[in-house]
Amino acid sequence: MKTTDKFLYGGDYNPEQWLDQPEVLKQDLELMQKSKINTVTLDTFSWASIEPREGEYHFEWLDKIFDDIYQIGGHVILATPSGGRPQWMSQKYPEVNQVDEYGRRHKHGFRQNHCYSSPVYRQKTRQINTILAKRYGKHPALLMWHVSNEFGGQCFCDLCQDNWRQWLQKKYHTLDNLNQAWYLKVWSGLYSDWSQVLPPNPLGETKVHGMDLDWKRFVTDMTMDFYENEAQPLREITPNIPITTNFMAEGLDKGDYYPITGLDYSRFAKKVDIVSWDSYPAWHNDYETLADTAMKSAYTHDCFYSLKHQPFLIMESTPSCINSQQYNKAKKPGMNILSSLQQIAHGSDSTLYFQIRQAQGNSEKFHGGVIGHDSSSQNRVYQEVAQYGQKLNSIAEIKGAVKHPKVGIFYDWESNWAFNRGGAFGRPTRLGIQTLQKHYSVFWEQDIACEIINGDDDFSKYDLIVAPILYMVKDKTVDKLTKFVEAGGILISSYFTGMVDEYDRVVLGGFPTKLRTLFGINTKEIDTLYPKQHGHIEFNQKFYETKDYNQVIEATTAKVLAEYRDDFYQGTPAVVSNNLGSGKTYYLATRLGDDFLKEFYQPIIDKLHLTNDFITKPIYEVSCQTREKNGVKYHFLMNFSEEEQEVLTNRESINVEDGSIVGKRIILGKYGTLVVKEK
Ligand code: GLA
Repeated sequence: MKTTDKFLYGGDYNPEQWLDQPEVLKQDLELMQKSKINTVTLDTFSWASIEPREGEYHFEWLDKIFDDIYQIGGHVILATPSGGRPQWMSQKYPEVNQVDEYGRRHKHGFRQNHCYSSPVYRQKTRQINTILAKRYGKHPALLMWHVSNEFGGQCFCDLCQDNWRQWLQKKYHTLDNLNQAWYLKVWSGLYSDWSQVLPPNPLGETKVHGMDLDWKRFVTDMTMDFYENEAQPLREITPNIPITTNFMAEGLDKGDYYPITGLDYSRFAKKVDIVSWDSYPAWHNDYETLADTAMKSAYTHDCFYSLKHQPFLIMESTPSCINSQQYNKAKKPGMNILSSLQQIAHGSDSTLYFQIRQAQGNSEKFHGGVIGHDSSSQNRVYQEVAQYGQKLNSIAEIKGAVKHPKVGIFYDWESNWAFNRGGAFGRPTRLGIQTLQKHYSVFWEQDIACEIINGDDDFSKYDLIVAPILYMVKDKTVDKLTKFVEAGGILISSYFTGMVDEYDRVVLGGFPTKLRTLFGINTKEIDTLYPKQHGHIEFNQKFYETKDYNQVIEATTAKVLAEYRDDFYQGTPAVVSNNLGSGKTYYLATRLGDDFLKEFYQPIIDKLHLTNDFITKPIYEVSCQTREKNGVKYHFLMNFSEEEQEVLTNRESINVEDGSIVGKRIILGKYGTLVVKEK
């Protein structure tokens, strides 16, 4: 597969917006070179420019851009244009337009609003992809394919409904099996004919949990199938050009940040040659510290690294502000370098921006860009982009370096779907991913590397697996976790574990037998707390508050480490541990705060020697992340605070940028960064 020695630096470039101003395009090339930009993503939204009328193609301008980019030593990531189709197509073939959950066929507009089933859209995208692959497949500037843009959304048209029924028929074979799996005797929901089976929709069925779960699986399958349809001609015509599609994160509107939950990326990642994603954390917000934002961003980077346990690409980020939120803050001086370096620190082999040149009009005209509306190389944003470009070149030896974390944080997309869908208990306080991040934060704060793993991963690489809220029981996962513990691993889990099967039906007979053996407990019931209510436990002679959920459990073989101090379950176990084989499990029956988690994890961290051995005393605001290549360890030190920070290390190291010796006392200024290495 084609690759390069350098980190990819650049981003989405939309020259089609400036074809009538050749002097602008000329200036773009100069400014790209000056800022060490070496890669552009083309064609993401230019279908209407290359095929303005059906069958009428205009590639002259794209040919020239390809050649120009090559002339300056650059690479092209070529997008397939399916993210935004031309007007003529929506008009002539209305079936390509998405139908929403109310059954309304949408008109042309926005983007990614197509039907994934439409034979016409599938044929049209294959056709344009084939033409692009034949035309540019051998161009020396072509580095990678970027299929479509930010896949998402769902369609409820008749074709999609047919596919949905076929998908269900393949899975369940008979209506009886389906009725049973979705438990449809409730509210008289039994199907007597396949034609009655519709997707979940607000005018009809929204309450059947098993249906919701299958619909989400189906949407992932349809999206991957559409992707495959696009990728097939690219693979055939250009077998050496790697293929990716840009994944996303979400949650900003709620003050959160994590990979989107709508598509199961753990499955989708298997289809791409390299994982890439678009990173837009809410730096400098008013609801958390910069270090808190950095932790969520770090978690999200680690998720994307872990999908293939390989370096990923940042396909988009912004050099200044974004456009899509209620409040879109400019990155302060130094922040772009810091946040971009964080991408590399966690395993990215690129920093790519949306966008190279800011648009003059339309919906994203104020979104940040490398080249601003003033076209100046003197403005602050451009200067910082150029400074970072220089930095990336001087640390190029790190490209391709990997990570070897010993801590796996367990996340299962399907289990999280079911967990969020479940009725009863506290609804707003479910917070599954936020809970994972609380656990992750204990390690991030101490500069201990983590991966975010799932049931398909090899658990033997880890010493510690943190798997709170393992809501859906998957036999394969339970067996693997048991083997992991028996072989000496330490496993943490919590309340809400082992509740439902893969159809989102409750597991009968109480806590599943295999989990009873694993954790040495039986579970009884779960008490939900209102947001202002708290319980208490006593652990290591200290009191800690519990919140949201107190699960009542009974210890069988487990040792009780803490008991509840209030309510009808006072005096019953709240935290237990259980020895199994050469390993050990812990079960936290209640939701506990950061203070508890720190106290709880410390002896485990010490016992497993997980402590970062380069940093003498970790500081919350300063993150140290490590990548390794050819026996060399590269440490990225990043100050996520506005104060100067003193970092003490256990050994001297070498500054990767200039080769100088770095002593054991390092001062990092506001937003300061340093990349060092040691053999
Ligand atoms: C997404 C899209 C881009 C652009 C940016 C703006 O990531 O892929 O086309 O709209 O958002 O933040």
